[in-house]
Amino acid sequence: MVDRLSRAVYIFSAFFFLLFGCTVEQQFQISRAERFALLQLRSSLGLRAKEWPIKSDPCSGWVGIQCLNGSVSEINISGFRRTKRGSLNPRFSVDALRNLTFLASFNASNFALPGPIPEGLGLGVASLRVLDLRSCLINGSIPSTLGNLSSLVELYLSTNDLAGALPSSLGQLDDLSVLDLSRNALTGLIPVPFVDLRNLTVLDMSLNRLSGEIPPGIGRFSRLRYLNLSGNILSSSIPPQLGDLSSLVDLDLGSNSLSGSLPLDLRGLRNLQRLVVGDNLLSGQLPGNLFPSLTRLKFVVLGRNRFDGGVPDLLWSLPSLDFLDLSANNFTGMLPFNVSAGVNASSAVANISQNSFYGNITPVVRRFSFIDMSGNFFEGSVPISARGSTALGMNCLQNSSNQRSRTECATFYAERNLVFDNFGEPSAPPSPPPKSNKKDHKALILASVFGGVGLIALVIFIIVLCFICKRKTGTPNQRGISVGPVPAGGSPPPPGASLNFSNLGDAFTYQQILQATGEFNDANLMKNGHSGDLYRGLLEGGIPVVVKRVDLDSSAKKESYMSELDLFSRISHPRIVPFLGHCLENENEKFLVYKHMPNGDLPSSLFKKADTEDGLQSLDWITRLKIAIGAAEGLCYLHHECVPPLVHRDVQASSILLDDKFEVRLGSLSEVCAQEGEIHQNRITRLLRLPQTTDSGASGTPNAICAYDVYCFGKVLLELVTGKLGISSSSDAAMKDWLEMTLPYISIYDKELVTNILDPSLIIDEDLLEEVWAMAIVARSCLNPKATRRPLMRYILKALENPLKVVREDNSGSERLRTTSSRGSWNAAVFGSWRQSSIDVANVPASQKMEGPSSFKQSGTTGSQGSGPHGDANGNGHSSSARRHSREIFPEPLDEEEGTRE
Ligand SMILES: *[C@@H]1O[C@H](CO)[C@@H](O)[C@H](O)[C@H]1NC(C)=O
Ligand SMILES: *[C@@H]1O[C@H](CO)[C@@H](O)[C@H](O)[C@H]1NC(C)=O
Ligand SMILES: *[C@@H]1O[C@H](CO)[C@@H](O)[C@H](O)[C@H]1NC(C)=O
Ligand SMILES: *[C@@H]1O[C@H](CO)[C@@H](O)[C@H](O)[C@H]1NC(C)=O
Ligand SMILES: *[C@@H]1O[C@H](CO)[C@@H](O)[C@H](O)[C@H]1NC(C)=O
Ligand SMILES: *[C@@H]1O[C@H](CO)[C@@H](O)[C@H](O)[C@H]1NC(C)=O
Ligand SMILES: *[C@@H]1O[C@H](CO)[C@@H](O)[C@H](O)[C@H]1NC(C)=O
Ligand SMILES: *[C@@H]1O[C@H](CO)[C@@H](O)[C@H](O)[C@H]1NC(C)=O
Repeated sequence: MVDRLSRAVYIFSAFFFLLFGCTVEQQFQISRAERFALLQLRSSLGLRAKEWPIKSDPCSGWVGIQCLNGSVSEINISGFRRTKRGSLNPRFSVDALRNLTFLASFNASNFALPGPIPEGLGLGVASLRVLDLRSCLINGSIPSTLGNLSSLVELYLSTNDLAGALPSSLGQLDDLSVLDLSRNALTGLIPVPFVDLRNLTVLDMSLNRLSGEIPPGIGRFSRLRYLNLSGNILSSSIPPQLGDLSSLVDLDLGSNSLSGSLPLDLRGLRNLQRLVVGDNLLSGQLPGNLFPSLTRLKFVVLGRNRFDGGVPDLLWSLPSLDFLDLSANNFTGMLPFNVSAGVNASSAVANISQNSFYGNITPVVRRFSFIDMSGNFFEGSVPISARGSTALGMNCLQNSSNQRSRTECATFYAERNLVFDNFGEPSAPPSPPPKSNKKDHKALILASVFGGVGLIALVIFIIVLCFICKRKTGTPNQRGISVGPVPAGGSPPPPGASLNFSNLGDAFTYQQILQATGEFNDANLMKNGHSGDLYRGLLEGGIPVVVKRVDLDSSAKKESYMSELDLFSRISHPRIVPFLGHCLENENEKFLVYKHMPNGDLPSSLFKKADTEDGLQSLDWITRLKIAIGAAEGLCYLHHECVPPLVHRDVQASSILLDDKFEVRLGSLSEVCAQEGEIHQNRITRLLRLPQTTDSGASGTPNAICAYDVYCFGKVLLELVTGKLGISSSSDAAMKDWLEMTLPYISIYDKELVTNILDPSLIIDEDLLEEVWAMAIVARSCLNPKATRRPLMRYILKALENPLKVVREDNSGSERLRTTSSRGSWNAAVFGSWRQSSIDVANVPASQKMEGPSSFKQSGTTGSQGSGPHGDANGNGHSSSARRHSREIFPEPLDEEEGTRE
């Protein structure tokens, strides 16, 4: 052997001598010891002459050998085959590596090394930085001596048959960056010393049998980009410390036995793209504030757990989302209507099957190229756009095959106090109240009533109605088509009038009320409302409720509870606070019981004391927009779907209640009354010198016209934009001053202006700023001092649903306005009023116009919009000068919807 060896060395050096004609062989030639070690390795592993020809120099002639300064630095025998003899008795025999003192990398992946990892491997090769033994048929346990490879940076042992516990000595590998132990049969706990592996960027222990908990110390791996612990039997909860992994891109904890909820603290995972926690025992609700921070998410798997509650809207509108699996949980709630702007229809795929989602299929499904919605409780018809790209089996959908039974659907909806559309057929005797999604139908009836009866009849009718409302005669209005008589003008119907108690929930006993509220314990008092005190309570089944206690002795509006009861007996809508029942058995005290709204009212949610250290936490913009849309939907229902139209008369932030998913439920309904007449008839009211109701939206006395609600809603919108609490609840001089100061910062010509009044706690990027701007514009048009010029609620809703169209497709887009009829009319409604209010504002004293900050910015985009004949008018940055040209900039869109406009 040694003979052959030295002969080879000789031949080799002779070769070099011939080639270069010099004797400096040292520089090129491998040391004797290293060459010897390589030959030993060659024979112990049974490598073939094809790759490692014995006669040539290893550094230059052997496949997979790299040398540096005459020392072997890398060995790559990946995928090599053994000699016939070698494969007869293959062994993991690599002792010779110990004499390769400069070896930095050993890659034997896909090379059969059956047997355990030799103890010695870890002791000799202190220089080793990369050890790749993937798919080598290794068995046995990992020797603790691997922890002596103190230079190791990458260690791959994946896809073998390694068993036993992980040696804690691996925790000594300070420089380790990649640790891949996946696809073995390792057992036991993840050793505590592992948390010292601070340099890890990749940690993959997936598909083993590791148990116990995920060590919270993993949170210290500040460089970790990839963490995969899936397919083990890890239990306990997800440690919130994982949220400290701010570099993490992939997190896979799927297919374990993890329990508890998804910690909100994961918000720190700012770079996360893949979140996989499917197939565990996780439960509870998804933290709504989690997803605004995880904006890079592409791949989300929450399926096959026990999550319940609603899905935060944001999850649907994550900008990069392309895979969403929520299947087989206990999620419930309605789909959001639409995803926020900036999310394009994409190739994304979603699976939300086997949950308890309900309500209509909304345009949100268009965000996905395919969505499996089967096994839920969706109702209504299937939109054309959703056909073909959805799996819809086992729901409650109209005209679809393979749906749940009528009873199953009805029971589901009834259990949740929801209205089921009964597959679009007239419902059975215990009839649910009219359903909300029949807007068009009702609008048509409404329109035909007005069209048909004619002006004179209308005028007479409205005069009569006004008298009814103001004189508190309480005579039921006979015109009702869908709602029927409603209490007019705050006047209750005569006590005991024909209330339909079958729609009024449960009749609670006084005893039950006492028990629920802890005998009206002061601790349970939520607020002293103007129509009664509100108490928090808990019904026997543990259902949280709010009880309104109406003290007939002291309350000024004693009978308002009757009108509220009457209202609830006639209306029902997902945007109205759920009414659970009443207790009328006492003479002097009456009680109304509502469902408790977990997120309270808007003022208490807008700024919440955060449990984290940074004090106050404010609602993000997307939630604010959602709340605005929700409230607008509720008001739309009252204004446009009830006949006669109902005026809320108490629209303010505290009337906007929020459920667990920040879905709006309108409350404070004790003031609701029928509208005195349609807006354009108010002139008649004025002519007849009836009590003043118009042009004084801010007067503070609730007015019985829808435009009054619109005005108040404008203040709520401003509150959402500016974060200034209390605007909508006051109408005093200070508030008016504030409005006068604020409104000039809202201009359709200058987006940047609005940043001066923006809530400083909002984190807004350029896209969102356009939405904020749009909402501010809508708010301003609602706040038109002239009631008749405020937009109708339904146009406000449209505008809020399409905020970017408010600001983008405005002026030069008149072409588009014409082609899209519906948008034409809402845009006209908002901007028509804008035109007017712009002129009004242009007339405010110059001193106020000048109040803008000195750093008055010129907006590039709006500048170009305003270009053309008046382009330079914007140049001086004075919005007021541009406003004068609004007539040219907003040409009257053609109104193709005259039939539905009143
Ligand atoms: C190679 O060896 C020479 C002299 O022995 C030394 O100066 C040089 O730093 C070495 N290079 C490397 C990369 O180790
Ligand atoms: C290792 O060797 C295999 C087989 O010769 C080759 O395909 C592969 O590219 C090598 N890998 C590296 C990292 O050098
Ligand atoms: C390492 O080299 C020394 C001599 O340099 C030799 O005695 C020893 O046997 C070698 N060890 C292995 C494992 O090759
Ligand atoms: C080892 O070799 C395989 C096959 O060429 C390659 O895919 C792998 O990346 C190598 N391992 C390392 C750590 O470079
Ligand atoms: C290997 O590491 C252990 C500590 O884990 C140490 O006690 C032992 O001495 C080391 N062995 C060698 C040969 O360095
Ligand atoms: C490991 O981390 C230490 C400090 O945390 C650092 O000094 C060292 O360079 C890192 N090693 C590698 C290979 O990144
Ligand atoms: C985690 O590992 C499993 C099995 O090794 C693999 O299927 C899965 O794709 C990995 N997860 C991620 C996020 O890469
Ligand atoms: C799902 O949630 C409902 C309440 O919303 C609960 O009654 C039911 O037990 C839950 N189902 C599971 C499987 O957790």
